[in-house]
Amino acid sequence: MSILNFKTKKQNGHKLSMLTCYDFWSAQLLNDTNVDALLVGDSLAMVMHGHNSTIPADCELMALHIQSVKKGAPKKFVVGDMPFLSNRKDLKTNMDNVETIMRAGAEAIKIEGALGNLELIQHCVNSGVPVMGHLGLTPQFVHQLGGFKVQGKEKDKAELIYNQALMMQESGCFSLVLECVPTQLAERITKDLAIPTIGIGAGPHTDGQILVLQDMLGMNTEFKPKFVRQFIQGHEIIKKACNEYVEAVESGDFPNINESYEV
Ligand code: KIV
Repeated sequence: MSILNFKTKKQNGHKLSMLTCYDFWSAQLLNDTNVDALLVGDSLAMVMHGHNSTIPADCELMALHIQSVKKGAPKKFVVGDMPFLSNRKDLKTNMDNVETIMRAGAEAIKIEGALGNLELIQHCVNSGVPVMGHLGLTPQFVHQLGGFKVQGKEKDKAELIYNQALMMQESGCFSLVLECVPTQLAERITKDLAIPTIGIGAGPHTDGQILVLQDMLGMNTEFKPKFVRQFIQGHEIIKKACNEYVEAVESGDFPNINESYEV
């Protein structure tokens, strides 16, 4: 998979599938699946580190996770998020941060929002760094948005997202994540852009979908927004396996003779 396949998949009407991935062991697992590409999202601050927003993630933390994912999933196209404010300084500092993410093993970066990022996007593209855009609910703006809410329900807000989508394409983005926007807006953007859109909470008409791995595996019983489908009840299944292990240890059933070394 490369950025060229993103384009041809859209042209041929084939849907793109992406999942987030943050660590070596889940990367090894996803390396063996048919998923098209992986995102080391700054959502790792919440999913892996227990923060209540993505804001605590920085480039050092992102690089650590990207390195583990790339080692576990050498076959997969890996996108690395530019974390909070890492792309909002002077061009040199921004590019140093891009370099950190790319040298960690990402094949592309993802940037939230178009406004104020267009020069950086162009500079990245002209420097050999593919850029995925991200519009709609952009979690790094959580305090500006007043919470994790669906974006673009009102006409003027929808127009702003639509115009930013055009700007991101114009600046050279190879694809665009649309998060938590109404289906009709995502459909209009998808129709009007040549680059593929990847939806999360954006309805069925985008060119592809992305979900947080732990959400689709049903690992968090307390987090179940409308757009998440749990493909297995991972929390229950793994809890059951762990309790069976405890029972086997307590009863003396584990380890048995075949699971032990002899002289
Ligand atoms: O950080 C992340 O996981 C993301 C996806 C939800 C698109 O940006």
